[in-house]
Amino acid sequence: IWNVDKFVDKKEIYSQVVDASSLLAEGQVVAFPTETVYGLGADATSDEAVQGIFQAKGRPSDNPLIVHIASKEQLKQLVTDIPSQAEQLMDAFWPGPLTIILPSKKSVSSYVTAGLSTVGIRMPDHPVALAIIEKSGKPIAAPSANTSGKPSPTTAIHVWEDLNGRIAGIVDGGPTNVGVESTVIDCTQLPPMILRPGSITPEMISEVIGHIEVDPSTTNKMEKPKSPGMKYTHYAPNAQMTLIDGSQEFINKLIHKEQKNGKKVGILTTEENKAAYQADVVITCGYRNRLETVATGLYDSIRQFNESGVDLIFSEMFPNEGIGIAIMNRLWKACGHSIIRE
Ligand code: TXA
Ligand code: MG
Repeated sequence: IWNVDKFVDKKEIYSQVVDASSLLAEGQVVAFPTETVYGLGADATSDEAVQGIFQAKGRPSDNPLIVHIASKEQLKQLVTDIPSQAEQLMDAFWPGPLTIILPSKKSVSSYVTAGLSTVGIRMPDHPVALAIIEKSGKPIAAPSANTSGKPSPTTAIHVWEDLNGRIAGIVDGGPTNVGVESTVIDCTQLPPMILRPGSITPEMISEVIGHIEVDPSTTNKMEKPKSPGMKYTHYAPNAQMTLIDGSQEFINKLIHKEQKNGKKVGILTTEENKAAYQADVVITCGYRNRLETVATGLYDSIRQFNESGVDLIFSEMFPNEGIGIAIMNRLWKACGHSIIRE
């Protein structure tokens, strides 16, 4: 593990890129930044290297990994077919936070696909990630670089907190920009279906390829998810977090009630609303009037509660539109689907 405490410096980051790509080419597991969250990479063509990812994260083996590429040329060795909708999406959104599920070649490690006949592929929009992939000369399988169940890492420090001593290295590219994981869309079916919401919204995708479906489980907690990874508990802070669908007065009443029971109470809120609450710990994740800032700050704010020693956390709701769909999807999971309605 090197350089996690330093600012990103051009020469330094270049030497990290060179080291990381040779470690990856040797079959080691290395964390690196992408525009969404930090990824934990390994050579997608090596069973042994990919198994190293599952071991480091404690990830269930039935949850497939996303393969990261630096050029469309690399698709040839990974997929048997590129439907026209997928081609249009690549042209519109790659490099970028969109993972496209395609029919996989048999040569892709079954540890990557978790035995499915499909594989998720994305080209990240981050110069460090692209340089590492290109220099390694391999397609790179990479889930988020957190311990399974924890919030995804948006800084190198987050990766270090979770995986220090378990992986060969962390490349520090500073905080990530988008903050929530890529949108996942299955293009092996017609119409294509969004399996995981992200910063590329259903509206943006429909503008390019017309009618699509959205897996109902991404917005409705009662449905069984179609994507293997979406069924697991995720992003959870140490203390129980509960969504509150109600006014600030209602939330303060709940806070006071818990405080009377001797509980130390946290509230996850926004810059606009932070002064309104009488909680013991008030943490903001961004500006409600610019939801993309909430996405960027969400996982770091959930991690901050772990250092604050709160007994329970209440969270504000966000509008279920645009990137708000992804924010609410992650919050529902972080809360284990618990909600109190006024
Ligand atoms: O932004 C991201 O996508 C980040 C960065 C590192 O690229 N990666 C990421 O990977 O979030 P991970 O492993 O945490 O999430 C991958 C998701 C899981 O929900 C998994 O089940 C789904 O994609 N997935 C992968 N391959 C799939 C497939 N063949 N069919 C259906 N779902 C798949
Ligand atoms: Mg993940």
